[in-house]
Amino acid sequence: MNNLILIGFMGTGKSTVGEALARRLNWPLLDLDQLIREREQRSIPDIFATDGEAYFRSVETKLLQESLQPGRRVITTGGGVVLRPENVAAMLAGGVVIALKATPEEIIRRVSGDAQRPLLRGNVEQRVHQLLAERAGMYDFAPLQIETTGRPVAEIVDEIIARLVDQADFWRK
Ligand code: S3P
Repeated sequence: MNNLILIGFMGTGKSTVGEALARRLNWPLLDLDQLIREREQRSIPDIFATDGEAYFRSVETKLLQESLQPGRRVITTGGGVVLRPENVAAMLAGGVVIALKATPEEIIRRVSGDAQRPLLRGNVEQRVHQLLAERAGMYDFAPLQIETTGRPVAEIVDEIIARLVDQADFWRK
């Protein structure tokens, strides 16, 4: 069996679903944004403000690669991890990639009032629509696409586990 990697736009539930999935499987959880904060000893808004997005992306790529050692973990990623083709290749080679989805309205509802996302500064609604358009199709490479809008976490985890049964990569030694 192999790493399970959760991707998806901001506010699609990666952290919440990742925690529940890791608990259900009794696998360790690795949260990439958390690793970045620990490694850098500062918040994500601080990193963006001081060193810019390009620097953040290079730390993200480095820690993603470190996280993708062969093994059984649930890895949750930041929404922008799909921006670099090398990250996409590393994730496909390093485990089973699961994309979480939500409607734009649900995403806006979930991210509103959270100051920890530098890319959503300003008019959140406008920023979400703009970034969704810029990233259209970028999460589609994942073999598992899971809708989260209006669904309880336990039901989402049930669907992921049921669908993993069909994934040859998941059973790869
Ligand atoms: C980002 C998403 C964030 C975080 C950073 C950049 C993005 O993670 O990595 O603010 O580019 O979409 P979440 O998806 O967990 O909010």
